[in-house]
Formats: sequence, C-alpha cells, structure tokens
Amino acid sequence: AHPEIIARLTKAFAFPISAYDALVEQFIRELKEGLSHEKAMPMIPTFVYELPSGKETGDILSLDLGGTNLRVCRTTLSGKGEFAITHKKWTISDALKKGPGKDLFAWVADRIEEFLDTHCKERAHGNYPLGMTFSFPCEQLDINVGKLLNWTKGFRGTDVIGQDVVKILQDQIDARKLNVTVNALINDTVGTLLATTYKHPGCEIGIIFGTGTNCAYLENQSEITKIKPGAANYTSPSNMQLINTEWGAFGNTSGALPANEYDLRLDARSSQPGKQLYEKMVSGLYISELARSVFHDLALKGELFVEASGKEVKADKDLGDLAIKERFDGAMMGALEGDETAHLEVIEQHFRTSYNLQTSQSDRETIKYICQLISSRAARLSAVGIAALIKKRELLSKPDQVIVGIDGSLFNKYPHFRKHLEGALNEIFDAATVKAKISLINAEDGSGVGGAIAAYLACKQKRH
Ligand code: BG6
Ligand code: GLC
Repeated sequence: AHPEIIARLTKAFAFPISAYDALVEQFIRELKEGLSHEKAMPMIPTFVYELPSGKETGDILSLDLGGTNLRVCRTTLSGKGEFAITHKKWTISDALKKGPGKDLFAWVADRIEEFLDTHCKERAHGNYPLGMTFSFPCEQLDINVGKLLNWTKGFRGTDVIGQDVVKILQDQIDARKLNVTVNALINDTVGTLLATTYKHPGCEIGIIFGTGTNCAYLENQSEITKIKPGAANYTSPSNMQLINTEWGAFGNTSGALPANEYDLRLDARSSQPGKQLYEKMVSGLYISELARSVFHDLALKGELFVEASGKEVKADKDLGDLAIKERFDGAMMGALEGDETAHLEVIEQHFRTSYNLQTSQSDRETIKYICQLISSRAARLSAVGIAALIKKRELLSKPDQVIVGIDGSLFNKYPHFRKHLEGALNEIFDAATVKAKISLINAEDGSGVGGAIAAYLACKQKRH
C-alpha cells in the first residue's frame, strides 16, 4: 500500500474508542430533545401501541417501498410465531426515484396488480387489507394516514411532499379496481421490529442499516412530552408507543459528528445539504459515495493509477464512471473489501473493466484499505446509536435479554460490518455483558411481514 496516503486517510476517518462515550451521551440528549420538541431529531410517534404476541393469524398483503427494492408480499401468519411469505421484488429505477412522486406511486400500484394477478387469483371474492411499509419520514395522523415530511436517500418527487402517501396510493389502487384497502402505514424500522417480535417476543428495537439507516423502538408514553392531551395519538391503551426515531438526522444541529473534508463535500453535493448527517456517515448509499470520492480525489492528485499505467490521470474524462456521483454503490464496495485473493484480482478487474484504469498491487491494497476504513467507521458509529437506545431505555438493568432486530443490505451483506459493530459494542459496554445480554437478530426482508402484522393490528384496533 502507499504509506503516506494510508496515514493521512487513517487520521481523517479516525473515530477512536475514546470518543465513544461522549458521542453516546450526545445521542441520548438528541433522542430526548426529539421526544420533547419539534425542532430536533424527528422521533415520530407512530400509531402502533402494542407488539404482536405471535398468536396472530391471517393471510395479509403488504408492500415494502424505499430500500433497494419494491416488494409486494402475501404473508400467512401461523399463530405460532411462524410465518410463510410469498413475494415479488422489483428494483426501483433511478428515473422513478428522481422523477415525480405520482409516477412512482402509479408504478407501485401497477406492481400490486401484477402480484395479485399471479398470487391472489381468488381476489374477486373479497377485499384485501394491505400494510404499507414506506421507508421515509412521515408524520402519522392515524395508523393509515401519513404526511410525507421530506424524501431521503436521493428520492426527489417533490410533488408529493406534505401529502398523505396512503391516499395517493389508495387512489391509484382504486383507479385499477384492485379490491385492496391500505389500512396501515409503517416505517421499515417499525416493520423490522414487528417482524422480529413476532418470532422473538421481547424485541423492542428495530433497526435498518441499508441504503439508509434508522431505528424504531418502544417508548413509555410519559416520556413523549411533545404529544399533548387531545392529540389523536395521545391515548395509548398500554401507555407504550413505538417511536420512529429517524435517527439519520443525528448531529444535524449539534455538530457532534467527526466530519472530515470528504464528509463535508458529500453533504454539500447532496440533494439535502445539512440533513441526515449521521446517515451520511453510516449507510450504504453514502459510504460508497465517500469511498468513490476518496478514489477520485487521489486519482486527480496523481496518487493512484500512476504506477501501473505510467501516466497521470489529469481530468474526470480519464476516470470514466469513477468521476460520476453515486455510480459506485455499496454492493461494489463490499465486493472490493471482501477481495481475499493474493493479488486482489476482484479490485483489479473492477477498476479495469468498469473505469478502464490499471492498478498496481499498492494501489489495490490502498483501495481495499480505504473501503475498510470507511465501513469500519460506519459500523462503529452504528454501535453508538444502538448503545444510546439501550442506555436511554435502561434495558441492561432489566432481567430480560435485549433483542434488537436488524435488517438492510449493509448489515446482511457487507463483509465484516457485523463484526465491527459488535466489536464497538464490546468497547462501549463490555464483552461479557454484550455476550450475555444483547442479541442482534437478523430480520432479513422483515418489513414485508412487519407490514402484514401492522395491517392485522390495525384491523384489530378498529374492531375495539
Ligand atoms: C429490507 C426491508 O430487507 O431492507 C426493507 O424489507 C428495508 O423494508 C430494506 O427498507 C433496507 O435495506 P436496503 O439495503 O434495501 O436499503
Ligand atoms: C432513511 C429514511 C427512513 C428509513 C431509513 C432506512 O433514513 O428517512 O425513514 O427508515 O432510510 O430505510
């Protein structure tokens, strides 16, 4: 590898153990601020007041919109803590992400119709409830009403901001006469939490580490002081309520995050400067963009790709797609970091075939190191969020296991992400406590099931 580059970047992306405690404390402060007033971390009260017992039964539709894929699912809840799921996935194109919101919802309704035609042929006989998992910040006005506050993760359909996303989808469904009623709207973190609880009773925290990052958890209503008596969601039969934290916004106003020149540049060029600052250091969409931006910068400084080709890269045109924002994604970054071949052939091939760039062995080692540096910082910062939640809720002092349901491509697929995250939790608490008390449960594709459970609970709430 190139020692001077390594030293410089290690310093820039450093997040030392000694910084953990102060950041965890700051995180707890921002969680609390969000519960008490509007101008802080969103901490959105949901209309989900109870967790499933595992005994729920039914055959329910759901959709899951806002990660890498759109999924339409049909879930059969067994009533014994088990479920069976039939689903279909579609990648959401860039044009749909960046185009008008109404086109996105029309496309979603078409996909529901396609799914029904294949998997629910008997639908003419009844009306299906559908749970909508929608992975963006929405102010919930009821379990089936939610105003989109803003887009995140690069989606741009400004025409639907401020509108009820359930109504928009329902109108598209009705226009196609699909016999489907959207009766619950939840965030993907809520879906992850509900799906995990169905199988593992006692889970109170659901987290996504994927394209974006976020967390939902069960809170005492007395702590949610920004909900005033008389508000629609003031009365919870259990005095408990799920909160969608939207923790991607941690650090937005406090300046608490250790941002370097690459972080600042990424933020300045993003569609929402100054927003989602934690998410921009942690989640898949952004960490791959950080890595790309470091490769790009080093190339233009003549510090990479010179040894092997004998010539310096002079301008963006010599770098192909490497010069283009977001062309390098989390899956590619994971593949480079996961390259265990002696000569780092996966890296060699990626740079040669994707950007027409020749790499030396030192270049390749440096590239792999950059991926490790950025992803391990992300994993350590992720542990800070988890630790803050556990401390805020004082979960370690309770006799039960702390069960955390986690989903998303970064957690499920990225090499060593989980190991780094657990390593950091061991530093923040201690290894014996983490081993004995904290279970991180992989809730892969949990939101489909979570959406179905939310739809079930919504039907039950309406009956009471
Ligand atoms: C999926 C969940 O497995 O993970 C989605 O079902 C969630 O609801 C997604 O949004 C997040 O991961 P990614 O990597 O697709 O953003
Ligand atoms: C973004 C969204 C949030 C979602 C998360 C994970 O942070 O704002 O709603 O839960 O991504 O998909």
